[in-house]
Amino acid sequence: MHRFFILMLLCISAFTNGFSQSKPAIIPTPISITQKDGNFIMNNETVVYYDSASINTKNFLVPFLQQHYKIKLKSKWHNGNPTQLNTISNAIILDQNSSLKETYFFNVDKNKITIEGSEAGVFYGMQTLIQLLPTNLSALKIPYLTIFDAPRFGYRGLHLDVARHFFPVSFIKKYIDFLALHKLNTFHWHLTDDQGWRIEIKKYPLLTKIGSSRNQTLIGPYGSNKYDGKKYGGFYTQAEIKEVIQYAADRYINIIPEIEMPGHSQAALASYPFLGCTKGPYKVLETWGVAEDALCAGKDSTYQFYENVLDEIIDIFPSKFIHIGGDECAKTRWKECKDCQNKMKANNLKDEHELQGYFIKRIEKFINQKGKKIIGWDEIMEGGLAPNAAVMCWRGEEGGIAAAKQQHEVVMTPGKPMYFDHTQSINEDSVTQGGLNTLKDVYNYNPIPESLMLHETPYILGAQANMWTEYMDNEKKVEYMLFPRIAALSEALWTKLDNKNYTKFEAKIPTIFARYDLWKINYSRAYFDVESQVMNNDSGKIFWNVMSKNKLGKIYCSTPNQNEKQINGAVAIAQSGTYKAILKDEKNNPLSSEISQTFFINKATGKPINLSVPPNKSYAGNGAQSLVDGVQNKMGMPKSAQFLGFWGDDVDIIIDLQEQKTLDSILLHSFEQKASWIYRPKEVTFSLSNDGINYTKIAEKPQISGISNLIYSQKLSSKARFIKISIKNIGLIPENNPGAGNNAWIFLDEIEVK
Ligand code: ACM
Ligand code: ZN
Repeated sequence: MHRFFILMLLCISAFTNGFSQSKPAIIPTPISITQKDGNFIMNNETVVYYDSASINTKNFLVPFLQQHYKIKLKSKWHNGNPTQLNTISNAIILDQNSSLKETYFFNVDKNKITIEGSEAGVFYGMQTLIQLLPTNLSALKIPYLTIFDAPRFGYRGLHLDVARHFFPVSFIKKYIDFLALHKLNTFHWHLTDDQGWRIEIKKYPLLTKIGSSRNQTLIGPYGSNKYDGKKYGGFYTQAEIKEVIQYAADRYINIIPEIEMPGHSQAALASYPFLGCTKGPYKVLETWGVAEDALCAGKDSTYQFYENVLDEIIDIFPSKFIHIGGDECAKTRWKECKDCQNKMKANNLKDEHELQGYFIKRIEKFINQKGKKIIGWDEIMEGGLAPNAAVMCWRGEEGGIAAAKQQHEVVMTPGKPMYFDHTQSINEDSVTQGGLNTLKDVYNYNPIPESLMLHETPYILGAQANMWTEYMDNEKKVEYMLFPRIAALSEALWTKLDNKNYTKFEAKIPTIFARYDLWKINYSRAYFDVESQVMNNDSGKIFWNVMSKNKLGKIYCSTPNQNEKQINGAVAIAQSGTYKAILKDEKNNPLSSEISQTFFINKATGKPINLSVPPNKSYAGNGAQSLVDGVQNKMGMPKSAQFLGFWGDDVDIIIDLQEQKTLDSILLHSFEQKASWIYRPKEVTFSLSNDGINYTKIAEKPQISGISNLIYSQKLSSKARFIKISIKNIGLIPENNPGAGNNAWIFLDEIEVK
């Protein structure tokens, strides 16, 4: 998994939010809900009546209520006879009486709670029942109401990468319960990658004997070059996998296994080096990113091997879809491999992308013969889409749109906002990757792109959130990255568009959090963070705007020369130094951790600024103003929101100081991280002007200092009003570097004029 930029983030500690239960807060919002006056009270005498199709539902409900709600319901079998069902009281009736896929009816009256529908529908209705329970355990009151419900999408997915970090069966089951609680129905289990092979394959025991462990693991963000020196590994036996499949099936969840090919296969290569183009040696990767080695697409023995692996996978997994990966396959080795080149000639393939297409199509044919379908990351469209393949698009939505237009099934999982390894807050407290995907971003995601014609939309099966675990080495962190975004995902996938409403969702958040507390889930409170934003206005002043959605508290701020005092809105930044803010309740207890921001005020701060090209959408910061907002990145603590990224472009920057000023020096802050495709500019030049039309170039070259946080500095003794900085990109990334042949990024931060 390549991400352009790594975030190191500030610390924030937990806080109590002190909310209690109010109105029903059902996640996801049902199609219709009609509430009446009065409540049914659940107690230890309440009996669950179940039929043979709702045993799974009863088996989930009873222990769940015992564990979290301290109530032990009795249960009895019923045969669907209406005379029996109509006369009972203090009952929960689970009744499969329809074949309407995933649909349920739910009714609460004085005597009973009735959940009817299809088999899976009754299970979802039971999940709704759980969400109607109060979060304080005093009395288990459920309001009289009627609900009718069915999902918007048939594919409602969540993924977990167990290759970068391994999670035991106990956690996988817990994770599957998380899906069930949110009415999701597909678990995408990413079982193999460069850093580990995690599923037993009887025919090839070395895949787990060698491929399931690595000698050590990278510490900290990608590119740190620090390792922990500790052997790390783990895998699932086929017996364990079968147990998990059954556990999921009992929760109406299908598991799609992913066996990566032909890239991301370093663990397989380390186990069976004959699978590669070179003789190796290969090792299970200890760091992240994209490896140069891939499976050899030229040797028939590679296909034979993977067909044998897939034979075992297909035998174990009932899933219609088998995920074959297909993403981020480096073509470096294929270009130099005799076998790969021969295979291209023999099959009239014009380049290595077509060879990738050949690989995928050949595997597809095998899988189709076994009565299954392939699904793969959008790179499987390279060299022409395999005839029956479904596409899981992750590099934006374009691949999914193109596939749907070619009448192929699609699962939407664009990095923004469906990657849950991205941070959910700019105040995040640990290493993440890839950028910011807030709760709101996830909530507002609509899997149906506007550019599709109505008749093409049925090809969008649904969407999925992905949990890549490079920076999640423990279960608590996975939970933290998942919650509460899984609630937003659940609504994005289940709730009809007309019923989706972020404001109404926000109103449920206090109850959702109270529920997580009751369920002992580790969740992010980023929604209530104290957030800040630096703003400029036209008069050359900057402001620090501090906000919180937690209306129970007040914001207090301290400045370099003033002690903490309550503020309302933005603080004017009049001088350099560190400003701090915190949320407190009326008794002066903190409701958030303190956030701080250091400002460096200079002659350019807050002044009008223009760029010849806009920054790339993915790294657009706060626009051009980010370069003169007084905020600089600290050494070793780069935050992507602070940089403007330019992908392959040259850029000219003009700053208007608004009057002629005496200038001693100009400094440009930039950033270099070749592993993330970010390069220092090929050339930086400074020019000055008094009229904004005629510029005089400063003859000397600026001095460069720093290692990754670079500063280009130019000493002067001149007067000028306008400053122009011309920055040239190196163009394509040179050979033998990560991302060779792609455009290089330029990352720019603050400009200082002294
Ligand atoms: C991916 O994130 N490489 C599918
Ligand atoms: Zn080869």
